[in-house]
Amino acid sequence: MSEREKNFPALRERLRSECERIIAQYEQKRSALLPLMHLFQAHEGFVSPQAMQAAAEMLDITPAEVEGTVSFYTLLYPRPVGKYMLQVCRGLACSINGAEDVMASFRERLGIGHMQTTDDGLFSYEEVECLAACDRATCMQVNLEFAYDVTPQKIDGMLDAMRAGSYAVAPMAQTESPERTWAIPQDAQVAGGKKSQGARGVPRPDNAGGVGDPSGVIMLDNIVSRDVKFFTGTNERAIVDSRAVVETVEEEGARAGH
Ligand code: FES
Repeated sequence: MSEREKNFPALRERLRSECERIIAQYEQKRSALLPLMHLFQAHEGFVSPQAMQAAAEMLDITPAEVEGTVSFYTLLYPRPVGKYMLQVCRGLACSINGAEDVMASFRERLGIGHMQTTDDGLFSYEEVECLAACDRATCMQVNLEFAYDVTPQKIDGMLDAMRAGSYAVAPMAQTESPERTWAIPQDAQVAGGKKSQGARGVPRPDNAGGVGDPSGVIMLDNIVSRDVKFFTGTNERAIVDSRAVVETVEEEGARAGH
């Protein structure tokens, strides 16, 4: 059992009244899930399995419901991460405003990629979807605090300040050492048939309009050439759906005595 796990019961006891205060603010207990997870994350540096279990017990919900919620948001870290969690937005507005260059600079300066942590455990890096600050693109979050109008020129200064402990955002608690990566091993998933090549950015005719078809050209080809497979699927669905509508109307007509 790790030191953090040994200390968890004492932490839970210490946070008990704060948890009760948060829960009392909501009509339904389960609504307190996100604030509770943020509270534990602030103390442990991530949302630990013990914190999720504690939340499930306090809120009378299942551990699976807690885990499903925690794993949905990039604002919650369900694994140990660096003292500085750097999350760069790669949404549309930020991409148009130079996110590609910002992301390339971070990767180069840190020597790590998406969903990875530096060996000294200081930085974790992740590229995330729209952070809802599109008017200040390109933007990012450092330990959930916003940094706006980020450019490659600003990055060295930011990282230097974090290393020196003088950055405006404090480092997070780190109660467990992070792993080097938390990325899904995509090659293994593709080899095992759990993921298509298309999901790795490889263009495929059956991946029209999705990842691997960023310009939509595969989708356009399908439409222009009236690809048989593509349209057969669509037509079959349309026929089945329209039959269902006719049957429902007829049944209701019969019930009404028409
Ligand atoms: S696209 Fe980056 S904040 Fe919306």
